[in-house]
Amino acid sequence: MRENLLVLGLQWGDEGKGQVIDVLADRFDLIVRFQGGANAGHTVRVTGEKFTLHLLPSGILRPGKLCIIGNGVVVDPECLLEEIKELNKRGISVDGRLMVSDRAHVVLPYHKTLDELQDAARAKGKKIETTRRGIGPCYADKAARRGLRMVELVEPAALRRRLEEIVPAKSKELTEVYGGRPIDIDGLYAELLGYADRLRPFVCDTLPVIADALAGGKPILLEGAQGAMLDVEFGTYPFVTSSNVSVGGATVGTGMPPSRIGRVLGVVKAYCSRVGGGPFPTEQDNEIGDLLRERGDEFGSTTGRPRRCGWLDGVALRHAVAFNGADGIALMGLPVLSALPRIKICVAYRLNGQTVSCVPADANALAQAEPVYEEVTGWQRDISKVKAFDDLPQAARDYVAVIERVVGAPVEMASVGRERGQIVRRTPNG
Ligand code: IMP
Repeated sequence: MRENLLVLGLQWGDEGKGQVIDVLADRFDLIVRFQGGANAGHTVRVTGEKFTLHLLPSGILRPGKLCIIGNGVVVDPECLLEEIKELNKRGISVDGRLMVSDRAHVVLPYHKTLDELQDAARAKGKKIETTRRGIGPCYADKAARRGLRMVELVEPAALRRRLEEIVPAKSKELTEVYGGRPIDIDGLYAELLGYADRLRPFVCDTLPVIADALAGGKPILLEGAQGAMLDVEFGTYPFVTSSNVSVGGATVGTGMPPSRIGRVLGVVKAYCSRVGGGPFPTEQDNEIGDLLRERGDEFGSTTGRPRRCGWLDGVALRHAVAFNGADGIALMGLPVLSALPRIKICVAYRLNGQTVSCVPADANALAQAEPVYEEVTGWQRDISKVKAFDDLPQAARDYVAVIERVVGAPVEMASVGRERGQIVRRTPNG
């Protein structure tokens, strides 16, 4: 029986999860997203064609694969319908192979408005610089028990009832706290009915589907979004997203028991990027950062924002490997470093005169942390044609060995380019 697999980002998102999942999806019957929402932007390149997915699991690009948007995801109906339409236009149908959990919460237009107003109200230096996709306000409503779920969205009477219950207080918050415009319930209801009609065929109780797959030994791939350092518990709070990006999110966001998760594969970029506000000790706000951004095409796939770039932060990565129990690493973006004569990796922080090897809980402290680096020699060679892990230049393999030592998990595969197929697997002893 094939083991289930959880694929997670271990940095600040944008590690290349889409490419990894696309390559692995073939071996799984079911691919499940479990957290986040349309803030994600998973890019997959298939024979020169670029697909950017926000809500649909990346497995949808593999014909015949069944994909689930789990209960832990917050679903923007407009965005989901747009994505489905876009795939249809490009000859990919999701009919009969997409399911959306009836327990998933709905991102409403006012969540997006609030997201914008709330970040605008934060002081300079304190702004989270969210994706403006309504993620935080939607998860906040979920926790405060005033959210709308898919099960209500697709049932007109229940939808009307629920809007009457939850909207007046939100309207008050918008107008009185943030000086925004009141919410027109009738207009909102009409808009949502339109989405509901088109989404109804996909909405169902996904728990039995997952339970049956588990009982029948059908392998499941769990697809994470964002990255561990944006986790609401263990990330650089409050500069985080509002979901459990980590291994725990995979169970609560799907209903899959922890004992059935199987292996955990962490996706890691060979350097770091971060988009939005918050501490980033290894950031290179200089020509190194510019080079990484240019070569790595580090511009947000959801918002188009330039990403902040820097050296690999081994301390943050060790932290992420530990709290997720990552069994192995998929190392992405190695070719981006191919131009550099020397490459640095942060192995500890200097903080208040002391050397520390843990990530402090306080974001202000992390912002003060000075990286202690180890340096390796670059390979300065094109690696895009490399077909086997062992054929990577010695200097690249040395860098891999340093990463493994610093973070405490084995590198199982590495990308040598962004196309499907440009991932080399490591042989067990390689
Ligand atoms: P939110 O998830 O839109 O609330 O944004 C919170 C923080 O997470 C911001 O700094 C975003 O830039 C960041 N973020 C959210 N989703 C992603 C992602 O998919 N990749 C990278 N950063 C993200």
